[in-house]
Amino acid sequence: MLVDNHGRTINYLRLAVTDRCNLRCFYCMPESGIKYVNRKDLLSFEEMERLLRIFSASGVSKLRITGGEPFVRKGIMEFLEKASLIKGIEEINVTTNGTFTAEKVWQLESLGIRSVNLSLDSLDKNRFFDITRRNEFDNVMKTFDRLLESSIKVKINMVVMEGRNIEDILPMVELTRNNKVDVRFIEEMPFNGTEGQGNATLWPSSKILAHISEKYELEKSIDPPNSTSQNYQPFGHKGSIGIIAAYTRTFCGSCNRIRLTPQGLLRTCLYSNVGVNFRDLLRSGASDEEIGNQLALTVGKRAKDGFKAEKLRDNTVSESMATIGG
Ligand code: GTP
Ligand code: 5AD
Ligand code: SF4
Repeated sequence: MLVDNHGRTINYLRLAVTDRCNLRCFYCMPESGIKYVNRKDLLSFEEMERLLRIFSASGVSKLRITGGEPFVRKGIMEFLEKASLIKGIEEINVTTNGTFTAEKVWQLESLGIRSVNLSLDSLDKNRFFDITRRNEFDNVMKTFDRLLESSIKVKINMVVMEGRNIEDILPMVELTRNNKVDVRFIEEMPFNGTEGQGNATLWPSSKILAHISEKYELEKSIDPPNSTSQNYQPFGHKGSIGIIAAYTRTFCGSCNRIRLTPQGLLRTCLYSNVGVNFRDLLRSGASDEEIGNQLALTVGKRAKDGFKAEKLRDNTVSESMATIGG
């Protein structure tokens, strides 16, 4: 079992398989000038698989595949198949922008992928374009429809942004009336690939909840352990909603997650900018045991929460979410 220096059990790895993405959501990266990681500096799938084996032997049982957009990386389906066979990995989930995921849904289902989180910030094609700077709305909706037809659990991630998609909040709740979908409203964080800090403070989770409660009768659900979202059941709806206080960080006390970036940095908090490079460790010829020991050591030095981790940074948050994996 992996336990951190604050008594939290770590069993959840978020693995960003690429920093590349075919969208340009303004809250995640700038339109141009992005420096992608050199291919040789990315973890190879073989390296990821080895790390996964070692991590799972140490206590990681839940895996989320993120990016960038995970499906832009060639070989991802073969990797998922191998990952699904690793002893100890009990659950694999994926976060995707859904632009070309539709045709992969059946294969994901047969691999046993339990849940897919789909980034969708607007139900309006024009607003979707303004946010993502790409004309991919129809493809994302196709993915959504296929997911609903499958046995995979589907969650929608909508980052709530003043002046961009406030008009979408209530239609998103409406989407849960007849569809078995969990829509999560997320506070904007400053991980946008620029020095700009975004508009994180304008729509805190309390305001999102108040806005929705004006129109819908909500019943508080029992949140799963280690949940990032506060979950609610709109009366009479098939689906549900959740609100993620990603910026106000109210869930750090039960945080069970670590992250591996595309270049192999192990980050013990989203808001931290330091990490141990497991790619270098692998490439230096370290044994499984040495890597496992380094994992335990790193997890033993975690910041207590996202505010402490942010304080320990030597700069303000400016990375793109695509380089950390969300
Ligand atoms: P499940 O609960 O496993 O479905 O996933 P999730 O909600 O953790 O993952 P997802 O990739 O869908 O992320 C949804 C939002 O939560 C994103 O905006 C993430 O960046 C944010 N988030 C995920 N983990 C953390 C975290 O450790 N800290 C903070 N502050 N935000 C997080
Ligand atoms: N603030 C909040 N959430 C973000 N995401 C990406 N960038 C940000 C940000 N700046 C979300 C995406 C995706 C998830 C992994 O992270 O919506 O669904
Ligand atoms: Fe790509 Fe996701 Fe970032 Fe949007 S939020 S640019 S879809 S990685």
